Amino acid sequence: MSIDWPLLRAAATTTAQRAYAPYSRLRVGAAGLTSDGRIIAGCNVENASYGLTLCAECGLVSALHATGAAPPAADSPGLVDPPALVAVSIVAGDGAPLLPCGRCRQLLLEAGGATLLVDTAQGPVELDRLLPAAFTGTDLADRRESR
Ligand code: THU
Ligand code: ZN
Repeated sequence: MSIDWPLLRAAATTTAQRAYAPYSRLRVGAAGLTSDGRIIAGCNVENASYGLTLCAECGLVSALHATGAAPPAADSPGLVDPPALVAVSIVAGDGAPLLPCGRCRQLLLEAGGATLLVDTAQGPVELDRLLPAAFTGTDLADRRESR
């Protein structure tokens, strides 16, 4: 799939303008290309209780799931295949790339995998360069105790 990076960055920049960031005054927008060719986005949402702040990537990943695969039919309930991210651009209010915080790198890993392409000022990089040796669901499955 070809990736229109200027379009993705423009979507992130537009969404950054919708951020609610009265405390830090750092607006952030995140836009992602999905495996089925859609562009989805999120912005940061702050709170007077600072620790409740949602990064832009949280909104993006929520939109990925909320707008993804069709819900299961009533007569065949069960899990649906999760949608995936292929590429993401995260920018500040000035439209220039902003690297995701550590928590969001982990969040993006589960939404796009280690080969997810992340826009940076130096060009796209795969997520596993930003989050090497990551903890994943495999570690959880392998190491959890039975009781
Ligand atoms: N922020 C994001 O939206 N994404 C990141 O990955 C880094 C930080 C936001 C959260 C907060 O509203 C502001 O930037 C300052 O930390
Ligand atoms: Zn973050």
